[in-house]
Amino acid sequence: MTALAASFDTAMARSQGAVEGQLDALLPRAEGPEARVFEAMRYAVLVGGKRFRPFLVCESAKLFGVHSGSALRAAAAVECVHTYSLVHDDLPCMDDDELRRGQPTVHRKFDEATAVLAGDALLTQAFEILADESTHELGEIRVELVRRLAEAAGARGMVGGQMIDLASEGHTLDIGAITRLQRLKTGALIAWSCEAGAVLGRASDELHHALHAYAHDLGLAYQIADDLLDVEGEAGVVGKATGKDADAGKATFVSILGVERARAQARMLSDQAIQHLDLFDEKADLLREAARFVINRRN
Ligand code: IPE
Ligand code: IPE
Ligand code: MG
Ligand code: MG
Ligand code: MG
Repeated sequence: MTALAASFDTAMARSQGAVEGQLDALLPRAEGPEARVFEAMRYAVLVGGKRFRPFLVCESAKLFGVHSGSALRAAAAVECVHTYSLVHDDLPCMDDDELRRGQPTVHRKFDEATAVLAGDALLTQAFEILADESTHELGEIRVELVRRLAEAAGARGMVGGQMIDLASEGHTLDIGAITRLQRLKTGALIAWSCEAGAVLGRASDELHHALHAYAHDLGLAYQIADDLLDVEGEAGVVGKATGKDADAGKATFVSILGVERARAQARMLSDQAIQHLDLFDEKADLLREAARFVINRRN
């Protein structure tokens, strides 16, 4: 392992601890007759996960000297949206999965209606977190984060990608259509995460664009790696069932290109992502390492 890879692991672990502390503090405690939905929210979020999007928020924020308290709130917000997307993605009406983050999915642990509500509540909680004054003193910055997250999560972003993903089951898509699907379903939230630091730090257009370009390639590489893990991974390590995409007839890079070419494509995207960071000094080294991590990860 290179020295940079070792410091990446340490930095990821530190960031995971910090964001989990923030999420624990922000998520409501179970009480009252509605306690079940709070329990399900806390279960979904706190049961595990790599916290990769929060890491991207915190590292991009460091490039611009953003206060860590602000970055952690933005990091918690995107993890809430991401977790909501997983809770709904696992429902019987979507991917129908029983295992997530190594534990029973929310609808298996609780029930379907509670899983739908917990997902809804996590989505809305994200906007409550961002809109709060403690995220940034300037209202215009908070609105910018909210507007961008709404776009990334909504029908022109993640939701749109999920729609295409489901509608494409059993169909063959060309490479352009799959690229668009993946950029929407996974790329949009990853891009928000990389750009949140630039928004909070009021970065120049040039640096903001560089992060956008980095995120564009990183997000696609991340989803190709997810599709490869579905084919090659073991459920015990990945923390979710594998072999499901082919069974469901999902259109993925792997289904079109095969394993080897999909892996080569992910590698090419990771290299390209790193090149987009050339404008930054060594402060961006952990983001460079993050691009290597996404294609080498085992879960
Ligand atoms: C899984 O995301 C779904 C995708 C969009 C690829 P992650 O692999 O980041 O899942 P967690 O958060 O670590 O569980
Ligand atoms: C889901 O993609 C991406 C989301 C927006 C939730 P997948 O369906 O491939 O994610 P996994 O494999 O279940 O984590
Ligand atoms: Mg899915
Ligand atoms: Mg799924
Ligand atoms: Mg998958």
